[in-house]
Amino acid sequence: MLPAPVSTIAPSTATGRPIRWGVVATGSIAARVVHDLALLDDAVLQAVSSRTEASARAFGLRFGFASAYFDGEGSTGYERLLADPAVDVVYIATPHAQHHAVALAALAAGKHVLCEKPLAMDAGQAAELAVLAAERGLFLMEAVWTRFLPSFRRASTILRSGEIGQPRWLQADLGFAPPFDPASRTWDPAAGGGALLNLAVYPLTWALAALGKPSSVSAQGLLTPEGIDLQNALTLSYSSGAHAQLTTSIGAHCPSVVTISGTDGWLRSSGPLFNPGELVIQPRQGTLRTERFEVFGNGFSYELREVTRCLQEGLTESPFMTPSESVRMMELLDEARRQMGLRYPSDSDPVPA
Ligand SMILES: NC(=O)c1ccc[n+]([C@@H]2O[C@H](COP(=O)([O-])OP(=O)(O)OC[C@H]3O[C@@H](n4cnc5c(N)ncnc54)[C@H](OP(=O)(O)O)[C@@H]3O)[C@@H](O)[C@H]2O)c1
Repeated sequence: MLPAPVSTIAPSTATGRPIRWGVVATGSIAARVVHDLALLDDAVLQAVSSRTEASARAFGLRFGFASAYFDGEGSTGYERLLADPAVDVVYIATPHAQHHAVALAALAAGKHVLCEKPLAMDAGQAAELAVLAAERGLFLMEAVWTRFLPSFRRASTILRSGEIGQPRWLQADLGFAPPFDPASRTWDPAAGGGALLNLAVYPLTWALAALGKPSSVSAQGLLTPEGIDLQNALTLSYSSGAHAQLTTSIGAHCPSVVTISGTDGWLRSSGPLFNPGELVIQPRQGTLRTERFEVFGNGFSYELREVTRCLQEGLTESPFMTPSESVRMMELLDEARRQMGLRYPSDSDPVPA
């Protein structure tokens, strides 16, 4: 069999007004995303903030930021970064539990926001951010980078084309089994740890793209003694009769693929569903084929390019990942959490019966 052709689609290289970025936090995803930010011609690495001086300075030096801010003398590093008039847009890469507070402060300070997933801890927090961004005329986007990848965009085009007919059934899983480490955000209830908030955004993204908003969700989860979910299983039901079955886990290594079955064929990702290297397509009347994709850098430049485009064009949201879509996703996760009995210290209301 011939190897499948490879599509390497560069993020648009069009350059316009330089966009000055501030980055909040210096952890693992911040480093991977900033690596890709540096690939954009019109990105200015303006400022970084950390809780500690050592991390702020080391990260600033490593990537060439103009300023490095850190906690001290009654204010936090991120508050200092937000007070910097040279920063246009803030990329928030803290653990989940800090997203809402930092994003709220950034919008209040008049900054545009790209915030790591999940946008907030619950739909109420996400909606508050969406409303404030709209009121202030500021850009807000949850960093669901998968939506901007050539492979995902291609899959969306195939689905829209009707090549596999009407999608009826979607199955998606995503799971890793990192060692237990109470110091890591993955295992810490106060940081919003567990599988659902960390991973479910990816299978959900595929389900929303293929099938739209479900009419109901049914969820089950396995909780650890610390009260986070080790794994979960969500079934989404649609008024059309379609179903999606989504699983995420931090207790099992999973194939981490998505399969979408339609009335005229099926499509499957190969490679992790958050960044598939291949799409396998089997039309009912045709021949099975594989389309291969390679990404630039770590794969984040596509979403960063989109933020840049939106800011340069004066848009307050990207049509590919709107604040309302983030709120919709959080509503589904809230309902799944309610059914699983998954509570976080940040939750204000009592555990429902
Ligand atoms: N898009 C993706 O593919 C992807 C991948 C991984 C993670 N993420 C998301 O990115 C966020 C960060 O994940 P990560 O893996 O980078 O986590 P991480 O390695 O633990 O880094 C988080 C950073 O946030 C800062 N921070 C601020 N307040 C904190 C607090 N109270 N406790 C701990 N750290 C705090 C710290 O930086 P300072 O010490 O500099 O303050 C820390 O290094 C998560 O919300 C996650 O969902 C996205």
